[in-house]
Amino acid sequence: MNIVYHPIGRLVTPFERPEEMPIQPCSTIVKQGYAVIFDDFVNGLKDLAMFSHVVLIYHLHKQSGVSLLVKPFLDVEEHGVFATRAPARPNPIGMSVVRLLKIEGNILFFENLDMLNDTPLLDIKPYVPEFDRPDNPTSGWLSNVENPSAMRSDERFV
Ligand SMILES: C[S@@+](CC[C@H](N)C(=O)[O-])C[C@H]1O[C@@H](n2cnc3c(N)ncnc32)[C@H](O)[C@@H]1O
Repeated sequence: MNIVYHPIGRLVTPFERPEEMPIQPCSTIVKQGYAVIFDDFVNGLKDLAMFSHVVLIYHLHKQSGVSLLVKPFLDVEEHGVFATRAPARPNPIGMSVVRLLKIEGNILFFENLDMLNDTPLLDIKPYVPEFDRPDNPTSGWLSNVENPSAMRSDERFV
């Protein structure tokens, strides 16, 4: 089956190179950026500004290659790619929960972005604690990583 998605917009971020960016939105380095939503989709933004956080789903457009076993930024051990957030996935889709600061026309302003500049945006969903925050979650192998949210990709294990 071939599935073709078309971007609804593009993400403008301060990051031009993977080495200089946070691994996840929860990084202690707060960087702002914005999404430019293409005209055909602007009506879909109605009422989104009422939410403090949104889930961004995007195409990791600079990723090349797939690895089913990866050594993620935060560990020296190999893990199955589906047990990680590594970009080398069969379908290079990224997702980030980010703070929505404001919406002005077709521009959405965010805090805590963790994707490269010009990343194609595929979808936006409101983050709803009642839907998305499960009871008693565990963190798998990440439980052994000291302070995962403070790490940046340029401080990764080598
Ligand atoms: C570990 S992934 C996590 C992305 C997202 N928060 C997720 O969980 O799906 C973040 C890394 O992906 C890489 N990356 C970000 N945007 C990218 C893009 N547009 N194309 C290729 N790689 C990208 C950078 O190396 C960045 O540090």
